[in-house]
Amino acid sequence: MIQKNIRNFSIIAHIDHGKSTLADRLLEATGALTDREKSAQYLDKMELEQERGITIKAQSVRLNYRAKDGQDYTLNLIDTPGHVDFSYEVSRSLSACEGAMLVVDAAQGVEAQTLANVYMAIDQDLEIFAVLNKIDLPSAEPERIRAEVEEIVGIDTSDAILASAKEGIGIEAILEAIVQRVPAPKGNPDAPLKALTFDSWYDSYQGVVVLVRVFDGTIKKGEKIKLMATGGVYEVQKVGAFNPHPIQLSQLSSGDVGFIIAGIKVVEDAKVGDTITHLHNPAAEALPGYQEVNPMVFSGLYPVDAADYDNLRDALEKLRLNDAAFSFEPENSLALGFGFRCGFLGLLHMEIIQERLEREFGVNLITTAPTVVYKVTTTKGELLEVESANMLPEIQFIEQIEEPFVLASIHVPNEFVGPVLKLCIERRGIQREIKYLTANRVMVVYEMPLNEIVLDFFDRLKSISRGYASLDYEHLDFRISKLVRLNVLINGDVVDALSLIVHQDKAQHRGRDLVSKMKEFIPRQQYEVAIQAAIGNKVIARSTVKALRKDVTAKCYGGDITRKRKLLEKQKAGKKRMKQIGSVELPQEAFLAILKVK
Ligand code: GTP
Repeated sequence: MIQKNIRNFSIIAHIDHGKSTLADRLLEATGALTDREKSAQYLDKMELEQERGITIKAQSVRLNYRAKDGQDYTLNLIDTPGHVDFSYEVSRSLSACEGAMLVVDAAQGVEAQTLANVYMAIDQDLEIFAVLNKIDLPSAEPERIRAEVEEIVGIDTSDAILASAKEGIGIEAILEAIVQRVPAPKGNPDAPLKALTFDSWYDSYQGVVVLVRVFDGTIKKGEKIKLMATGGVYEVQKVGAFNPHPIQLSQLSSGDVGFIIAGIKVVEDAKVGDTITHLHNPAAEALPGYQEVNPMVFSGLYPVDAADYDNLRDALEKLRLNDAAFSFEPENSLALGFGFRCGFLGLLHMEIIQERLEREFGVNLITTAPTVVYKVTTTKGELLEVESANMLPEIQFIEQIEEPFVLASIHVPNEFVGPVLKLCIERRGIQREIKYLTANRVMVVYEMPLNEIVLDFFDRLKSISRGYASLDYEHLDFRISKLVRLNVLINGDVVDALSLIVHQDKAQHRGRDLVSKMKEFIPRQQYEVAIQAAIGNKVIARSTVKALRKDVTAKCYGGDITRKRKLLEKQKAGKKRMKQIGSVELPQEAFLAILKVK
């Protein structure tokens, strides 16, 4: 395709504002989907994504469109993941485009996450135009939202497109706007090759599939290529594009978006943000913006049944093939036995991986409460990176502990500002800014310890704002903090999987809450169960679960044996998630009690 007839664009939208539905309409309108495919949302590939309605992996499609000017255009839609955990992937996807379409729900208005992505697009000098979606809803207020977008985002919305992805309204206007407003790519097809890797995944037949945007040069089958950040050298086996099915092409040239298959074995070797060039006649320098992504949130994953250990390891290995940001290493816990310590980009990333393990790989898991990375300096001057309370040295050997801080931007309607500020203060937040975006919408910006966000902050935020607040955060730095290790003891045994690192001023409160929550979750057993919270040797809270033998069939007098059997079966199933600690059985919920503590 001639470069002047290529348009590379992406869709920026808050979760649920209709990005996937709209993308499907564009595919349909340009004839890329068959009838059968129309029934399924095409862009969200994985089953899990469909169920949760979240786009996890960026995916790109090529649309062929004959515009009103009579010319044929190639429109490359570069899909971006919509959640805060994937903001680096979003930035790489955006830098592969010349334009972006901002989709805003005409009933909901602009959200914090949308803003973060729009600012990213503005920073990268993309041409941005607005689409107000869901105008079919009775609650839609396109005129009010149009003014709001203009005021908050600062882009001209006088020609914003009114659309309903559901009813197919405004789709042609969108296609025309892409052709007319998004600039054609620049770049020289004869210069040394520079192609940006903006997504990669593992395919069991092809090996790693790499999605690229070519900025300069031309890439063909059989050529030797080099990945500039990782240094890997490979031979190109196939190049092509998704339409949305893969089609092979003879080459990809400057301006093009497509895939490369080059015998790469693991996604780690084709990292998002890396630049591909030729081994011979390479580009002098890589495209800007490459970053190593490091896991920031950690959690232990243990099989409920020890016999599943090997299955779990195989499943983790398969997931890792596809996800360079996910890491794991073996760990063992006195309480939970053999398992793995896993690293994630953030909480959403963690949840998705846990769910995929249970669902796709059929492994029953116990997961420990999430933690963050701490930098610990020992009295001997060593610097340790500590991801779990159990790795923390004894208190007398610690010189200082530093914890990660983030800059959290919360976007909230006026009426909920009070409770949001209170929550941020409770979570050791330091106020940076409160900005009235419109008469009714406020942006609250706090510096906060990530440690306070990984435990239920988002859920609390949603509940105090009746679901209206949205959160976005970026990493700031590490800061010295007074942190201690809080242990939980069951009948005198430390349950290592429940130990956590907390701020000194909060330890007492956390300990008391944790113990009383644990009490709710531990069923009565044949023995009395003592639950204690302690810092070092000092017990700060205690509670007891009284002994009782629970006879689930007691109520079933009369002779209905099938009913009795059903109850016993039910009790047995409940036991699947139990773990034996000394003589005490703990259910999975007890391990998650930490999450429920304020
Ligand atoms: P993520 O994939 O989570 O980022 O969400 P998304 O932005 O892709 O949203 P999606 O397309 O999945 O749409 C979210 C919900 O809004 C779905 O239930 C859609 O059916 C619905 N929806 C999308 N567009 C419209 C529209 O124009 N009108 C109405 N009434 N509903 C719509």
